[in-house]
Amino acid sequence: MADGGLRPLALVTGASAGIGEAFARELAARGHDLIVVARRRERLEALAADLPTAVRVVPADLSTEEGLADVERVIEESPVGLLVNNAGLGVYGPVSGQDLGALAATVAVNVEAPVRLTRAALPRMVDAGAGGVIAVSSPAGQRPKPRLAAYAASKAFIDLFFEALRQEVAARGVGVTIVSPGYTRTEWHCRAGQDVSAVRPEEWLQPAAVARAALDAWAEGRPRVDLGTHAPRALPMRVARSAYLRLPPRVRDTAGVQHLRELVNRPERRGEPVGPRGLDVR
Ligand SMILES: NC(=O)c1ccc[n+]([C@@H]2O[C@H](COP(=O)([O-])OP(=O)(O)OC[C@H]3O[C@@H](n4cnc5c(N)ncnc54)[C@H](OP(=O)(O)O)[C@@H]3O)[C@@H](O)[C@H]2O)c1
Repeated sequence: MADGGLRPLALVTGASAGIGEAFARELAARGHDLIVVARRRERLEALAADLPTAVRVVPADLSTEEGLADVERVIEESPVGLLVNNAGLGVYGPVSGQDLGALAATVAVNVEAPVRLTRAALPRMVDAGAGGVIAVSSPAGQRPKPRLAAYAASKAFIDLFFEALRQEVAARGVGVTIVSPGYTRTEWHCRAGQDVSAVRPEEWLQPAAVARAALDAWAEGRPRVDLGTHAPRALPMRVARSAYLRLPPRVRDTAGVQHLRELVNRPERRGEPVGPRGLDVR
């Protein structure tokens, strides 16, 4: 176990909704005291009142220097043994038309906050030789995503940063786990302005299932858990694959076609399992 069998104080960012709220509920059910962070204080207070363990509410806007510094201070002053970097946002649409403030907030909340809060929490964990970090990534981070460019790039950063960190601290007794959930029923898509009406009902994950799978993976010392799929279904993959195989070799070798080949060869497109067995996806 990454926590050595203890139940450390856990800090969850973005605990006022969705996956973060589910993390807080699941951690409290497992006996962890909590610090919960988000902008909406009333939601955090209602959550705290509903949980069976001690919960400290820290309202903070992680897209601002003041909010980030406040939470860094809280971490440095408290024995946080598990940091869940969950808060995140995206803004759907072409970069050229996007609000600069929204783009900057995407980078601040999705990239700067996890880096700074993790940096604040690590020394105590390393000294103790225990505890760790969970980072919420996304399948969007696996490739460039036009109309979600900043969001996808921010999640690619999460994948690379936290995998490197995991390798740095594994021998020091500190566990790092990345969780990458597919479509999950939260407020995210509505707030991002992303139309998800084409996503099949059975593709949706529930936030509680994501939180459970991530915490189990962290407790078992697993580096990563990929759940569900973001596979578009505009073109049946068998048709795409057979069309690809009919292309002349010189066309197949162009960069665009290589990218298509990578897409159709991803495990989820071949119908291979991409998440833990028995995961509740309803
Ligand atoms: N839902 C999906 O399909 C999906 C798939 C893959 C990955 N993810 C990732 O999962 C994580 C959780 O998202 P979710 O789906 O649960 O979305 P959500 O329901 O929109 O919740 C997002 C959380 O982040 C917090 N947050 C946003 N901006 C913030 C800011 N400036 N300062 C502090 N907190 C802020 C929100 O709290 P306040 O608004 O109260 O501040 C909220 O608690 C994100 O990193 C997201 O990218 C989601």
